[in-house]
Amino acid sequence: MSKRLQDKVILITGAGSGIGRSTALLFGQEGAQVIVNDLDIAKGNETVEAITSSGGSAEFIQADVTEQDSVKQMVEQIIQTYSRIDVLFNNAGISGVGALHELEPDAWDRIMSINVKGVFLPSKFVIPHMMERKAGSIINMSSCIAEIGLARRASYAATKGAVLALTKSMQVDYAAYGIRVNALLPGTILTPFVENYLRTSYDDPEAAIASLKSRQLSSEMGRPEDVALAALFLASDDSKFMMGSPLYIDGGVTFGKNA
Ligand SMILES: NC(=O)c1ccc[n+]([C@@H]2O[C@H](COP(=O)([O-])OP(=O)(O)OC[C@H]3O[C@@H](n4cnc5c(N)ncnc54)[C@H](O)[C@@H]3O)[C@@H](O)[C@H]2O)c1
Repeated sequence: MSKRLQDKVILITGAGSGIGRSTALLFGQEGAQVIVNDLDIAKGNETVEAITSSGGSAEFIQADVTEQDSVKQMVEQIIQTYSRIDVLFNNAGISGVGALHELEPDAWDRIMSINVKGVFLPSKFVIPHMMERKAGSIINMSSCIAEIGLARRASYAATKGAVLALTKSMQVDYAAYGIRVNALLPGTILTPFVENYLRTSYDDPEAAIASLKSRQLSSEMGRPEDVALAALFLASDDSKFMMGSPLYIDGGVTFGKNA
């Protein structure tokens, strides 16, 4: 069977860890030229090493998705080398914990910057190249928290709601240029970040996992690979009729009810 992303040039932000890394590995196996972006050089290089050692093709570019010059330079470098970007996966993001009155304005600004401006800037510099070629797929990382209330996640929820709204408006503006823009809405996914959060925030991480599972219809916890497979669908031409859509990968958290 032919590979689903053969020769596609794909930029993934925040691909040094978790969902971004898992997606980069899958895209590499599916024949893509993967551009691994991260702020963290060591983690980004580890992802590239994992892709190339299993026969895939990848390179690392360090850039901070909140810094205009850094992002502009990254996109220019990719265009110089490969002359196009077929897929942009705006994945980089951080978590934020606390009810609104507990939040410090600096922490609010930081999460807004990484999770929302960090989608705006890469898109801003990649889109003109996609418009020229009248083709492209953009995948924005939202979360099912954009649709449901969850305790003590006010700032994080605000950023992921913003990304979902942005996705729909982007789609309207760029549909005429052959560009598709869709959003991923994962539930809780066991990435190193979440595992660390569970270890440090709960006396009993196993009880925390049980409580997370009780919100789902699935008895399994979500894995980075589950989200990577959804990203593969949105990146590939298999999803050519999906435009401006939220894709839920949440074990039934958003629309299910157990009792
Ligand atoms: N893990 C979950 O449960 C979950 C659920 C829904 C949505 N998400 C979203 O998925 C995305 C990935 O989450 P994850 O759990 O894999 O996290 P992670 O912490 O494992 O990976 C995020 C990566 O982003 C990088 N990064 C952070 N700031 C950056 C910046 N300014 N510029 C470039 N890179 C930067 C980090 O270095 C890290 O490698 C995030 O947007 C997150 O909000 C995660």
